[in-house]
Amino acid sequence: MNRIPELMKGNIDFSKPVDLFNDGSHGVYWVGSQEDSPFRCNAYLIVDGKWRILIDPGSAYHHFDQVRARVNAIVPANTISHIVLHHQDQDLCDSLPNWMKLNPEVILVTTPRARVLLPYYGFPADVNWADVSPNDTTYFDLPGGSLAFLTAPFLHFPEAMVTYDERSGFLLSGDICAAIEQDWQLVATHWESHWRTMVSFHIFYMASNRALRGFMEKIEPFPIEAILPQHGSVIPGPMVRPAIKNLKELPCGLDLLYPRSNLESALSGLAASTH
Ligand SMILES: [Fe+2]
Ligand SMILES: [Fe+2]
Repeated sequence: MNRIPELMKGNIDFSKPVDLFNDGSHGVYWVGSQEDSPFRCNAYLIVDGKWRILIDPGSAYHHFDQVRARVNAIVPANTISHIVLHHQDQDLCDSLPNWMKLNPEVILVTTPRARVLLPYYGFPADVNWADVSPNDTTYFDLPGGSLAFLTAPFLHFPEAMVTYDERSGFLLSGDICAAIEQDWQLVATHWESHWRTMVSFHIFYMASNRALRGFMEKIEPFPIEAILPQHGSVIPGPMVRPAIKNLKELPCGLDLLYPRSNLESALSGLAASTH
């Protein structure tokens, strides 16, 4: 079942993969890397029957050996059936050629605009793809429940996406809800201090409040039990609604780079007074 409340107590053995959810037939695991960087990268694995889905596997040089070892502790790494790429950045995609050597038949799950860029990591374009629709109609029917793919425009890639796992209620969110934190813990335990580490990531990486608010309104109706980002700590159930609420209001990216100038404010005031 959902092991995140128990993991909040700490004392986790990171030499092995970490069970985040397990009901005996559907498992969600942290298979990320131990690294001495505040930009630390999380990778996740979902196993359900024949479905062996690796999420945002990381870079070749920095992550591949560690992620492969943790995957191997659960299922043979060459049996990964799908790799989900939430966007096209190096920190989550650079190891793709290594994974495709292990299983050339693996299916790459991503959006069409990310798909155009991914072969430049060093593999032919005619591999197996599963395109995620920009209309949010793409899902996989796993035995335990649906895995739904939702786009997240301009957060931060123009056609970024996230994955919602119905069985666990986990939202695997890529860079959204990520944090840069020197003192990393797998699961956040103090909301106020964790929120500060999320702010410093979002104001520099996310396009604008309009983009953030639109996406937060899209995911708000989902019963989300935890958010699993690619950087920083997992956001446990009680912190999910505060995270959505705060991100809806956060100015970021273009809001901060191009704030409304005094001249624009004065001109719009002038226009209003002449009508
Ligand atoms: Fe990114
Ligand atoms: Fe990232």
